[in-house]
Amino acid sequence: MAAYLDAVPFSGIIRIRDMMYTVDRPFRLDQGDVSFDAPDTVKDALVSGVAENRTHYVQTTGIPPLIDRLVTKLRERNGIPVDEAGEVMVTSGGIHAVFCACHALLEPGDEVLMPDPEWPPAQGNVAGARGVAVPYPLHASRGWRPDVDEMRRLVTPRTRAIYVNSPNNPTGGVLSHDDLQAIADLAAERDLWILSDEAYEDFVFDGGPHVSIASLPGMYARTIPLYTFSKTYAMTGLRLAYTAIKDTTTRNRFRKMLFLTVANTSSLIQYGGVGALAGSQHAVGEFRTELVARRDLFYKGMIETAPQVFSGTPPSGAFYAFLKVNPDWRSPLADAPASPSWAMTEFLIRKGRIGCVPGVDFGANGEGYIRFCFARGREELLGAIESLRSIL
Ligand SMILES: Cc1ncc(COP(=O)(O)O)c(C=O)c1O
Repeated sequence: MAAYLDAVPFSGIIRIRDMMYTVDRPFRLDQGDVSFDAPDTVKDALVSGVAENRTHYVQTTGIPPLIDRLVTKLRERNGIPVDEAGEVMVTSGGIHAVFCACHALLEPGDEVLMPDPEWPPAQGNVAGARGVAVPYPLHASRGWRPDVDEMRRLVTPRTRAIYVNSPNNPTGGVLSHDDLQAIADLAAERDLWILSDEAYEDFVFDGGPHVSIASLPGMYARTIPLYTFSKTYAMTGLRLAYTAIKDTTTRNRFRKMLFLTVANTSSLIQYGGVGALAGSQHAVGEFRTELVARRDLFYKGMIETAPQVFSGTPPSGAFYAFLKVNPDWRSPLADAPASPSWAMTEFLIRKGRIGCVPGVDFGANGEGYIRFCFARGREELLGAIESLRSIL
């Protein structure tokens, strides 16, 4: 890796994080982090791991008690026909899994169809593996779902894979079963891989349950499904995620990247993961129920407070409000950026202490929108709404 990395964009989220550290008493609606804490089952397992000296090297792809539980979860919950434990691999967070997957799959110049808008590290990792991200639009008018015929027209002889992210960050759009089947048919027809980012699988609010494209007939052989403990178990800082890959060549390449980057994912954190899966899943249901309440509270508050500025309908999944900014709105700041979504973001942060991310940071198709994370506590959400009222 060398000079070409200079051309790989750094997410604007980093710039925003730096801005937020200069703000007194900020409302941190910019980060995709939940305000919940990890369940006791996770914390107890971590404490026991320390007491039992689980501090040595472990298997590159993951410790057996965790892998065994993941095999069961992938088969029973996701319907993915995992044959044997060797297909499952544990990584240091979802972003690391995306990194390893892109390096396992892409030759320089290979094209990957990417949703637009999309979580920026997805494109960054495609570019980091010397691939080329080719955006396919998600349409607000279709609940932020793509038009698969439009995707088909973007496929070229260089296309290697399609990145699918449902529920989507930042829009909260959820693909229907028909969408997934149409994308699967396209992949089979043009012999493409699918990178299926299912980080928000447990946060489908309407029209669930979540369906993995890897569970559709024949699709596991050409899909790399990616899951993380970050969101489901409020373990964002602990860094634990996983995948299952059927194809032996791709799996071996992935395993090499895993070894070369971390040797093994932290032993202790993997025991925390065992605690998460072994214990009651009650907390996950509670998180989901609370998120629906926060989603509704936040939308109502934002739209009622500033109907002339913000519009949008509550998303079906994930935990972000992706609100449209009225194109006639003008920032009162003298040095406002030219991009409308950056102008609104800087105004909200500097005048209202409200953390948020400009839609354009997720792709050109996100210009004119702002992302707010509603997984923060109710008081923080209400504080942000009150602050908005005072500055508009
Ligand atoms: C769409 C999407 N995929 C993957 C991830 C990876 O999360 P982590 O690296 O914390 O596992 C995130 C995190 O925000 C995300 O939004």
